[in-house]
Amino acid sequence: MHVPKTIEIKRIINETKTIKTFIFDWDTENILPGQFMMVWNFKDEKPMSISLIDPINNEIGISIKNVGPFTEAVHSLQNGDKLGLRGPYGRGFEIVGSKILAIGGGVGMAPISAFVSEARRMDVDIDVITAATTKDELLFMDKLKSTDITPYACTDDGSFGFCGFATEYMEKIIEDKDYDMVVTCGPEVMMKGIFDIVERLKIPAQFSLERYMKCGMGICGQCCVDDIGWRVCVEGPVFWSDEIRLISEFGKYKRDASGIKHKI
Ligand SMILES: Cc1cc2nc3c(=O)[nH]c(=O)nc-3n(C[C@H](O)[C@H](O)[C@H](O)COP(=O)(O)OP(=O)(O)OC[C@H]3O[C@@H](n4cnc5c(N)ncnc54)[C@H](O)[C@@H]3O)c2cc1C
Ligand code: FES
Repeated sequence: MHVPKTIEIKRIINETKTIKTFIFDWDTENILPGQFMMVWNFKDEKPMSISLIDPINNEIGISIKNVGPFTEAVHSLQNGDKLGLRGPYGRGFEIVGSKILAIGGGVGMAPISAFVSEARRMDVDIDVITAATTKDELLFMDKLKSTDITPYACTDDGSFGFCGFATEYMEKIIEDKDYDMVVTCGPEVMMKGIFDIVERLKIPAQFSLERYMKCGMGICGQCCVDDIGWRVCVEGPVFWSDEIRLISEFGKYKRDASGIKHKI
């Protein structure tokens, strides 16, 4: 499992101007939504959430936003080109309850999409808020509709759906619903806002955290969080609210590759 498997890109889906999904043949047995793969382009290696788990065709998908040198290099690849993949890693989402609210911000919709498909396979009633800066960056709108879900879309600039942040939309829709659980992935400032809401309303919730990762398998200590010291790559990336309460840096800062703190 820790040795990367060199594998051909089976197909590429252009999701938005900045996000592409890469599909691979992969044994999906034992993969949970919320887990991630380490993706190696034979120069560098980065963590990426699994956005598609297809047990019928034995395929997985990884949705990558082009934000820098590594992601740009992967975006330039074509069908049939090769990447190294190792994983799955980390602790995924648990499916608990019969009415769930899932919230994804930006490319944070990647693990949420895998979660929603799995929840629908288990016949769980699920609502989804998908948030992006603008209409063209809303992820998986068509895919969600094909799983009989009409997503609550929101954009910062109001170009589609609700005009405003996911937290504001959540406050609006949550009043007349009775959710058993909330799951979320996205910018930490968004998840901090969601954390404050679910704490107030006493709704159990799971959060997928992003921290700088090097080994992805618990050895290097790069992704440890203050002051509890959990490794996000092993004890996370998904944490329940009662665990988030113990992560004092949540919503405040994270560390870069050299360990320097950066305000969130
Ligand atoms: C558990 C996990 C799941 C992720 N899932 C996805 C996903 O599904 N899709 C997606 O597009 N991105 C995902 N990311 C983020 C992705 O790993 C980084 O955006 C990517 O590594 C950026 O690399 P770059 O060279 O293109 O950009 P850079 O210019 O090097 O960095 C851009 C940003 O990405 C962060 N970053 C860079 N390297 C890493 C690293 N090794 N680990 C964590 N963050 C890093 C930097 O802190 C910076 O904020 C995930 C990160 C984690 C930790
Ligand atoms: S990335 Fe090495 S311990 Fe988590």
